[in-house]
Amino acid sequence: MPLLDVENVSKAFGSLRALDNVSFRVEPGEIFGIAGPNGSGKSTLFNTITGIPFGPDRGRIIFDGVDIHRKAGHEIARLGLARTFQRETSFDKLTVFENVLISATYSKANRSPEEQRRNAVEALDVVGLPRSSQGRLAEELSVFDRKCLMLATAVAMQPRLLLLDEPASGLTKPEIETSIELIRRISGLGVTILLIEHVLTFLMSLSQHLLVLNQGQVLALGDPRSIIADPRVVEAYLGTRKAAV
Ligand SMILES: Nc1ncnc2c1ncn2[C@@H]1O[C@H](COP(=O)(O)OP(=O)(O)OP(=O)(O)O)[C@@H](O)[C@H]1O
Ligand SMILES: [Mg+2]
Repeated sequence: MPLLDVENVSKAFGSLRALDNVSFRVEPGEIFGIAGPNGSGKSTLFNTITGIPFGPDRGRIIFDGVDIHRKAGHEIARLGLARTFQRETSFDKLTVFENVLISATYSKANRSPEEQRRNAVEALDVVGLPRSSQGRLAEELSVFDRKCLMLATAVAMQPRLLLLDEPASGLTKPEIETSIELIRRISGLGVTILLIEHVLTFLMSLSQHLLVLNQGQVLALGDPRSIIADPRVVEAYLGTRKAAV
């Protein structure tokens, strides 16, 4: 059984069809890549899956056998689905540790405070944020460390499915390399990952399956190597703002 089954999902903003009949399945344990030019509906897809801020207009989303497309965002999160955002998102005036603890506390409300604190420390270790930075305010961190912090807050929820929206955007080449290792490490913990990225080489090095969106529709779906050679995919990427490779 797939861990995530997205069936004919559509979402419109007025006359704009941001998602138009999108269907795909994600198997447990895999890294599933999502590509597409600017405005093709990638982030909207994550919004509809997580219910934040909205679910789909039409279609069904089944997570581990549970119908989630009508559920509220917090209910979906508690089922074991966490996400990061395209822009670094954190509570700037709280410390690194407090940011992660909030997330551990929220998602594991039935655990003891000691266990929640342990979860938070473990999540920071997983993303490689040094323990010496735990007392720093989130706003003091570099862009890369803020991305790591956002990732740590998601990891602290101990999700079964993690949705990453362009984790490499705005990073330098060495930081991108570190991010690739980081995503592999999280995947190695048994977390299934949905990964949005513009940079196809980044997706190629990580994903077992790839979905390419174009103007809200599925342009290609399947094995990354054959998809990257598909002339329609190449064409969709030509002339886009960001580099495809
Ligand atoms: N809340 C919203 N209200 C109105 N239009 C929206 C909203 N969210 C997204 N859109 C529009 O839907 C389309 C898809 O946007 P989306 O952010 O999903 O694209 P994307 O593939 O993530 O793009 P990018 O690569 O730039 O992040 C765009 O035309 C966008 O302007
Ligand atoms: Mg986006």
